Amino acid sequence: MSDTSKIQGGMLGWVDARFPLSRMWNEHVGEYYAPKNFNIWYYFGALAIFVLVNQLLTGIWLTMNYNPSAEGAFSSVEYIMRDVEWGWLIRYMHSTGASAFFIVVYLHMFRALLYGSYQKPRELIWVFGMVIYVALMAEAFMGYLLPWGQMSYWGAQVIISLFGAIPGIGEQLALWIRGDFNISGVTLNRFFALHVVALPLALVGLVVFHILALHEVGSNNPDGVDIKKNKDDSGKPKDGIPFHPYYTVKDTFGLGVFLIFFSAVVFFAPEMGGLFLEPPNFQPADPMQTPAHIAPVWYFTAFYSILRAIPDKLGGVVAMGSAIFLLFLLPWIDRGRVRSVRYRGLGHKVALGLFAVAFLCLSYLGLQAPSDLYFGLNVTTWAQIWSAVYFGFFIFLFCYTAFGFERTKPVPDRVTD
Ligand code: HEM
Repeated sequence: MSDTSKIQGGMLGWVDARFPLSRMWNEHVGEYYAPKNFNIWYYFGALAIFVLVNQLLTGIWLTMNYNPSAEGAFSSVEYIMRDVEWGWLIRYMHSTGASAFFIVVYLHMFRALLYGSYQKPRELIWVFGMVIYVALMAEAFMGYLLPWGQMSYWGAQVIISLFGAIPGIGEQLALWIRGDFNISGVTLNRFFALHVVALPLALVGLVVFHILALHEVGSNNPDGVDIKKNKDDSGKPKDGIPFHPYYTVKDTFGLGVFLIFFSAVVFFAPEMGGLFLEPPNFQPADPMQTPAHIAPVWYFTAFYSILRAIPDKLGGVVAMGSAIFLLFLLPWIDRGRVRSVRYRGLGHKVALGLFAVAFLCLSYLGLQAPSDLYFGLNVTTWAQIWSAVYFGFFIFLFCYTAFGFERTKPVPDRVTD
């Protein structure tokens, strides 16, 4: 029984004697000491939780009126948009939420790169994060088939056919995923089951593991300083403040700002110029007619660019897989001892900047037709250049950290701001 429950009688005491409610609250919120120098980059973890809850709730309500069959899916989405009360709002909150999820998660991941939050002892937080990211990609990919529009159909066709490139088992594997020789109602059914039950369950579980791992070792911060090294007489970190009320209030403010942008998109630009909802998806899926230009949704296009950069199909699939796999290995590729970019060498700052530019350029290029020209070079050539920068980042990072070429600055003992 926790101390709190001994003092507090009544309802809470009754519950605490039977369930560790106060103990869990104290351990993870009320007495979780977080560094006092969190900046704007530290909003995105809490925002990711908010977007996850938004997706779960709007998803449940969409499911009430959605029909997961090849015959009924497209018109059931139209029905939700036109006839179901507030259906349009719930659908736009869900479709905008999908893009918002990736924006928030990409910024959250970049924060980890900036401040070395993946380094020892936070490797597992990062690995759980990467598993979340891959599960999120699967969740979004399967969700995109459900409206059964032209891009749903043909996007899925292209991506699943990639599995066919795997030597030996490829064709069988693609057949097993589709459950049919082409994308069909059978595929739609299984994607629906995975999208609404299996993957959301996995995502929620993974987020719990992610946060448990974080609270086991404690949060990093913009200085990359270990706040547990400096404790006061009562054993509390001198540079730490309780998560509640300090960060609950701060995160609520962040949520307010986020909601302004989120609502602006939901109410005024839900299609986001064809980025969040692509124009061909307003036409029902037609297996007899391929759209002129097939591109995945923007959040996949960096990896799609890497895939297209290699002319050979298997080579492209391997490159794309490696681009994701290298991220998993980041804690072991970066052998540097200094965490935060503030105290790392100039070379690292440039490398990190170039990596971010490469990711953005690849994302842009993945949305364009391969033959489009920019400064006299076509999209494929540009994709090859930026793919080289993307992979180069990992290779150089390993070299200058493992062989001691990086000139770092001294890291302070205490947080600076
Ligand atoms: C559903 C998606 C996710 C949710 C809900 C989530 C949630 C959180 C929360 C609440 C925190 C603590 C607050 C903060 O530091 O911002 C956190 C920290 C962290 N997350 Fe995530 N996260 C998600 C995805 C990811 C992904 C995809 C990665 C990276 C691959 C990642 C890597 C990290 C790291 C390294 C930290 C520790 C940061 C530090 O202490 O500086 N997370 N996450």
